[in-house]
Amino acid sequence: MRQSRVIRDLVAETRLSPEAMIQPYFVQPGKGVREELSGMPGIYRESTDRLVKSIEADLKLGIGRVMLFGVPDSKDSAASGATEPVGLVPQAIRALKSAFGADLFVSCDVCLCAYTTAGHCGVVEKGRVVNDKSLPILAEMARVSAGAGVDCVAPSDMLDGRVGVIRELLEESGFTDTIIMAYTAKYASAYYGPFRKAAGSSPDEGDRTSYQMDYRNRFEARREVNLDETEGADIVMVKPALAYLDVIAEVRAEATVPVAAYNVSGEYAAAKLLARENLVSEREIVLENLTAITRAGASIILTYHLRDLLKNKWLS
Ligand code: PBG
Ligand code: ZN
Repeated sequence: MRQSRVIRDLVAETRLSPEAMIQPYFVQPGKGVREELSGMPGIYRESTDRLVKSIEADLKLGIGRVMLFGVPDSKDSAASGATEPVGLVPQAIRALKSAFGADLFVSCDVCLCAYTTAGHCGVVEKGRVVNDKSLPILAEMARVSAGAGVDCVAPSDMLDGRVGVIRELLEESGFTDTIIMAYTAKYASAYYGPFRKAAGSSPDEGDRTSYQMDYRNRFEARREVNLDETEGADIVMVKPALAYLDVIAEVRAEATVPVAAYNVSGEYAAAKLLARENLVSEREIVLENLTAITRAGASIILTYHLRDLLKNKWLS
């Protein structure tokens, strides 16, 4: 059954669906600004006016789903920039929703690390991330994004109980249709390197091992799935993807909601470097990586490769 292309296509167990992929974008303050990220060719940090133009072009390619990350120019200890109703990300959401309406699915990251001077995903006191003091700030950040019209909020902080408080505040505020895509099994990973450089969100002291998962653990992901589902998550996510295919399979077996996987910045940068050095074909390595993530059990993939995949028609 491997003798010809048509037969192999007939019996293939896994197929890629770009309509279930989400392209990440980075938004920064200002006007007319667009900078390529170091180590991530083809990915930019841009002001809202440029973002709207980029997404207009991407929509024509067939990218109808986006994830926004804010890169603010000021930070403080309370992450006050994260909850401003006319802040960086809410303004971008409003601009996108007024330009494209329901044609564009807009999701945004909910986390404090880009907004705090300490660069941690929650607020820090006496050198420690204080879980319960961070929760109302995260919930307010989600509420403000929902108020701006976002379709989906994606809490990436990995603090305990955040999905529950976000769901509760959204319900109370009348945002009963906002989807919560939880970063459920998010590991403390070296693969976030290029993202942290781009977002200026590296911790100034210590690392994220006191709240993100330990990569020695697989079954613990089941507990995270159950907590997030009980607290009201609509989609559960595994992150990173490629070194965590077993975790994706584990989460797929446990979850009763759709499973997403985040093909992160370091994974993208690695594929780009291999291709740039002519050590691999970019098309082949991207298709193999995205297929592996799908085969493991993810039905939704967040990937920086989506634009290249569609622009270069790698699937046809
Ligand atoms: C913020 C956040 C990170 C990523 C997504 N949201 C970085 C981190 O946790 O340090 C990583 C995404 C990527 O590497 O592409 N918490
Ligand atoms: Zn964070």
